[in-house]
Amino acid sequence: MNFELTEEQMAVRDAARDFAQTELLPGVIERDDKQQFPAEQIKKMGELGFMGMMVDPKYNGGGMDTISYALAMEEISKIDSSSSVCMSVNNSLVCWGLEKYGTEEQKEKYLKPLATGEKIGAFCLSEPEAGSDATSQRTTAEDKGDHYVLNGTKNWITNGNSASIYLVIAQTDPEKKHKGINALIVEKDMEGFQVGKKEDKLGIRGSDTHSLMFTDVKVPKENRIGDDGFGFTFAMSTLNGGRIGIASQALGIASGAYELALKYSQERKAFGKEIFNHQAIAFKLADMATQIEAARMLVMKAAWLKDQKQDFSQASAMAKLYASQVAMDTTVEAVQIHGGYGFVKEYHVERLMRDAKITQIYEGTSEIQKIVISRSLLK
Ligand code: CAA
Repeated sequence: MNFELTEEQMAVRDAARDFAQTELLPGVIERDDKQQFPAEQIKKMGELGFMGMMVDPKYNGGGMDTISYALAMEEISKIDSSSSVCMSVNNSLVCWGLEKYGTEEQKEKYLKPLATGEKIGAFCLSEPEAGSDATSQRTTAEDKGDHYVLNGTKNWITNGNSASIYLVIAQTDPEKKHKGINALIVEKDMEGFQVGKKEDKLGIRGSDTHSLMFTDVKVPKENRIGDDGFGFTFAMSTLNGGRIGIASQALGIASGAYELALKYSQERKAFGKEIFNHQAIAFKLADMATQIEAARMLVMKAAWLKDQKQDFSQASAMAKLYASQVAMDTTVEAVQIHGGYGFVKEYHVERLMRDAKITQIYEGTSEIQKIVISRSLLK
């Protein structure tokens, strides 16, 4: 068993760390406060190759492995999860799904600009009445021969307004249940497509989360991904990979909070010594470091399995389940270690604590991860 990263993986991690420190850290508090999408920062991330990291270079991607992607996600999420969620959705839900299941024409037209970050993608599965229960899609894609007519509403869509290419999951034949669902590529300027309200969120406030409305949107048949009825399998398969991205994000939030707390504990004095020298604080940090390391092992294992082309659905669900719990626990402790300073924005940990919560909700709640894991135990 080899736990060492390659030179290339370390270089990617270091580049992401540098970028996060120099380009994302300045202004991160203000963007969170004003709910401002990091448009300039995302553009630069595209130029540096962070938006299509795993895509084959022939489609303008970075041709990197999933481990490099997870490392970059962790570094960027230590500083700014509003940027990293945009990166995660674009890389692992949109680019990956298109590259794996799209036609050559779809890859030329849509994957290429997505892989460079010239365009941003969104993954549209959740609905007002279909979050965890993803088979209950109410959005319909009526088959009209050479095109589909799309009607319905999607909710909580990451990159909802900043995207221009949307992968939309919709029901074509309700009688066939999940086998009657299709995944369609929708462009922002298609007639009848409308971006709805922006959500005012607890965390990842810089990311733009919107509802989307489709009214008689005509989507050409060539924009369907895979065969008729493949949409649900497409969504599930894509989410398996997406969960590695969110697990890496959770890991980044946890390790970002831990690093801040460790530093603070060596600077802040109370009762005549640095607070790190009080066992109550040192033991908290020991627990945090141990949990983060365990989460990292799960994330790396899932990424490695994916790179080895082995089944990684159980591993990615485990990584997301555990890393998101660690993100929550660790950020709460980081705030506690900072005391009163932890409760104010300037010290960053309160934002990390707010950002941590969503990692237990999106791309499947923790309960959904347990469904995925428990079902896989019987296989
Ligand atoms: N990987 C591959 N295939 C899977 C799968 C997985 N993880 N989970 C289910 N499937 C397949 C099954 O094998 C089955 O296929 P067959 O009929 O061919 O055998 C089919 O899907 C239906 O499976 P189930 O009967 O298990 O379906 P279910 O209705 O019981 O639900 C579920 C399964 C796992 C709960 C699923 O509904 C689910 O994952 N829900 C969560 C959805 C989710 O993660 N939403 C997040 C939205 S995206 C997002 O958050 C992005 C963002 O903006 C950040």
